[in-house]
Amino acid sequence: MLEQLNEKDFGTPRRISEQEVTLEIDGMQVTVAAGTSIMRAAAEGGVNVPKLCATDSLEPFGSCRLCLVEIEGRRGYPASCTTPAEHGMKVRTQTPKLQALRKGVMELYISDHPLDCLTCAANGNCELQDMAGVTGLREVRYGYDGENHLDSKKDESNPYFTYDPSKCIVCNRCVRACEETQGTFALTISGRGFESRVSPGQDQPFMDSECVSCGACVQVCPTATLQEKTVIALGQAEHSVVTTCAYCGVGCSFKAEMKGNEVVRMVPDKNGQANEGHSCVKGRFAWGYATHQDRILKPMIRGKITDPWKEVSWDEALDYAASEFKRIQKKYGRDSVGGIVSSRCTNEEGYLVQKLVRTAFGNNNVDTCARVCHSPTGYGLKQTLGESAGTQTFKSVEHSDVILVIGANPTDAHPVFASRMKKRLREGAKLIVIDPRHIDLVRSPHVEADFHLPLKPGTNVAMLSALAHVIVTEGLLATEFIAQRCEDKAFQQWRDFVALPENSPEAMQEITGVFAELVRGAARLYATGGNAAIYYGLGVTEHAQGSTAVMGIANLAMATGNIGREGVGVNPLRGQNNVQGSCDIGSFPHELPGYRHVSDSPTRHLFEQAWGVEIQPEPGLRIPNMFDAALDGSFMGLYCQGEDIVQSDPNTQHVTAALSAMECIVVQDIFLNETAMYAHVFLPGSSFLEKDGTFTNAERRISRVRKVMPPKAVYADWEVTVQLAQRLGYQMDYAHPSEIMDEMARLMPTFHGVSYEKLDQLGSIQWPCNDAAPLGTPIMHVDEFVRGKGKFIITKYVATDEKVTGKYPLILTTGRILSQYNVGAQTRRTENVQWHEQDLLEIHPHDAEERGIKHGGWVGIQSRSGETVLRAKVSERMQPGVVYTTFHFPESGANVITTENSDWATNCPEYKVTAVQVMPVTEPSEWQKKYTRFSKVQHELLGKAGQSPDHKTMDNKTPENKSTGKTKSVA
Ligand code: SF4
Ligand code: SF4
Ligand code: SF4
Ligand code: FES
Repeated sequence: MLEQLNEKDFGTPRRISEQEVTLEIDGMQVTVAAGTSIMRAAAEGGVNVPKLCATDSLEPFGSCRLCLVEIEGRRGYPASCTTPAEHGMKVRTQTPKLQALRKGVMELYISDHPLDCLTCAANGNCELQDMAGVTGLREVRYGYDGENHLDSKKDESNPYFTYDPSKCIVCNRCVRACEETQGTFALTISGRGFESRVSPGQDQPFMDSECVSCGACVQVCPTATLQEKTVIALGQAEHSVVTTCAYCGVGCSFKAEMKGNEVVRMVPDKNGQANEGHSCVKGRFAWGYATHQDRILKPMIRGKITDPWKEVSWDEALDYAASEFKRIQKKYGRDSVGGIVSSRCTNEEGYLVQKLVRTAFGNNNVDTCARVCHSPTGYGLKQTLGESAGTQTFKSVEHSDVILVIGANPTDAHPVFASRMKKRLREGAKLIVIDPRHIDLVRSPHVEADFHLPLKPGTNVAMLSALAHVIVTEGLLATEFIAQRCEDKAFQQWRDFVALPENSPEAMQEITGVFAELVRGAARLYATGGNAAIYYGLGVTEHAQGSTAVMGIANLAMATGNIGREGVGVNPLRGQNNVQGSCDIGSFPHELPGYRHVSDSPTRHLFEQAWGVEIQPEPGLRIPNMFDAALDGSFMGLYCQGEDIVQSDPNTQHVTAALSAMECIVVQDIFLNETAMYAHVFLPGSSFLEKDGTFTNAERRISRVRKVMPPKAVYADWEVTVQLAQRLGYQMDYAHPSEIMDEMARLMPTFHGVSYEKLDQLGSIQWPCNDAAPLGTPIMHVDEFVRGKGKFIITKYVATDEKVTGKYPLILTTGRILSQYNVGAQTRRTENVQWHEQDLLEIHPHDAEERGIKHGGWVGIQSRSGETVLRAKVSERMQPGVVYTTFHFPESGANVITTENSDWATNCPEYKVTAVQVMPVTEPSEWQKKYTRFSKVQHELLGKAGQSPDHKTMDNKTPENKSTGKTKSVA
């Protein structure tokens, strides 16, 4: 679907009003919503008033004076961008006087602008150039003899864009974009009058300022002052294709601007319903991994993991994989093989992998990486509300009066949604943050949490019960809502339970570590502050009581009637791009597509008829069960598509022992990831730019992924799965991913109305989409819950088994950082490493001092599972007793430390609570030494296959190689 490169810019934002005004512009009658600017009214009527400082993503500023108009009966020449349209107005946009005034303005701009249009990167896409043309500027009388900025120094510090002050027209768009759209407030206009210039921070280079490289300023800059380096290198694009970001669960829509098969830049799509034209550093700039030299483009096989890889044809690789799976099943039985679906792949790809397992393998041994992140969301929300998904649109936050963020760090992990949330907070919504760390949201420019409850890791359920206790005992329940919408008996039992004194904030204070008065204040605010919405993340789910906490959150929303309309709801912020989708399409071992249990006979028969095979009625193995079974000798073959279980799953040494025990591991990925080092067959994967499909974001929004270039390794991932199934004796026959979606739509009631055609028409669709909701469902549970009546569930706090002791006195909790993504396989291969080139251990100054740990020094971290070494970042963001790290680099071994403890209902690992000791060290841990040796050998074995060795992943930052460890985050 080719798009226009430059969309029409209406100059000022759209206004929404029930009132309309009709005015006359250049003799034409135009009717617009009240509050619309004259500029926008004219644009809607087809008249483009010249402009420079205005753009329709920002509030008008009125500084350039190019958009002057004449209004009958008014003196002077008002700016059309800042003047609202009024009923009966008569406006003229083109008169000789206006023409002369505009020419004068342009003459002044151009007299201080380098006239290097022919060699400028923005040539052909520059608004200043356009305006010179529109205003008929033919000569500049002032020359360059006077003062000018032409010798100003270019700032090239940001890896992705440059700032060339000599081209700046001080229109202020960038400053406003950083404030209004992004909410970072990194830019100002420093100096006055002629001296005024855009300045990041305190006249610093961009990289030293607060800038988070979201690209919003670059996008709105009308000149080449702020310009993408790729455009400077490659020139302007020639066509664009709308697609979806392959990083986080926000699911931002982008225009891939292309020259032939080469991406010139990714520009956030103004019409994208998840992001409305905004982006973060990952989606906007960090896409270079897709063409990185580390990509493995030829299939490879080997008998043992100590053998060199052998490059083979696709036929040979697929034949070998199929014969190995058949051999293993013959020897060890039908259930000895299985598959893993990735939340990084498309819905269609995931659907095919689970279908292959249930048909060609003939068992239900399929699981997804959502197991290790949001499986408790699926379970908890299904039990209470009846559907395993969030309830709102992102846009709904614009109607929230109170926002409760628990166990999520949106400014790092879901940045585009965070910007939207911060905008609402700047407008006056109240904020409650429940998090052990002092995350950015607690205090950032123009945003301050009304309540920060810095609870101890592992005590979410205690905190949720304490909040509920206040709501119940202080008479803050939404009694009418509960009576109408919820199961009465379950409610009464829950109410009586939370009202028990043991659940009071005072009683829970010792457990959570949070003052009771703070909890009481937060509960009152949530219950009485108007529309209250809860946003939560992995800080809720990745616990021994992850599912319990999700149910506790749903209880709070029902108890206060905060569900079923705009501005409220229960909103899981999904980690990877397609976590929601990978769950929807049946990749759990107990559920067929559409969250229907395999033991349900009618559902099974539906799929049996469609797929022509018998489906096992028993759930298959979950990922951790697969590992245990491998070590028991009963699970011997794995098809792992797009997932890096060695780096992302807990207790690495257990995972690698299990993989080493298997006889055939088939990894399908774009890089030789950590799991591939244990593989016997490597099938080259395709990046999101090389295939068609769909992703489903955290709002249940299904968006198209569109192929912008041919697959570098010949096949898209879905085609490989089809061929593997065929070789296993199961016929799959699809000409295009749209046919896979058509099959899903036939078999999944919530997808009945979804098709590629409709996605093209509507842009995106939030499921359920069927006869009852042909255009999709933005808000769920509006009149009744999906399960009929909402069900309160008692959520008793049970302390985790992972206790701090004299030997392991600190709690380690883990999370993400803005510039890196999950296991880092993609972002580590981009310039994003300039922000974060290694994982660090954050530690409170008291804990550091007690142990003689210095900021930037090496520390050993030891848990019951293992030991690793990282550099220390001494930080007041931590509370004493709690340390924190990210897990983006394999050599960090963050998951060597984490344990096998997991959520009671879903086995989601308890990543967020590990008892550890930390101490200064001078050498890497034994695991790290072993890892370095193993990784080196594996890359040598890869080199023998003629493939490019993956040097980046070998770039070990342990003490062994004496890296300086200087990163922006440590400094
Ligand atoms: S950098 Fe660009 S957007 Fe910012 S003031 Fe200068 S010309 Fe305007
Ligand atoms: S890139 Fe984003 S954060 Fe940085 S200055 Fe521009 S708008 Fe602000
Ligand atoms: S917020 Fe998420 S989906 Fe949007 S651009 Fe960033 S990484 Fe991509
Ligand atoms: S566009 Fe209206 S003053 Fe600049």
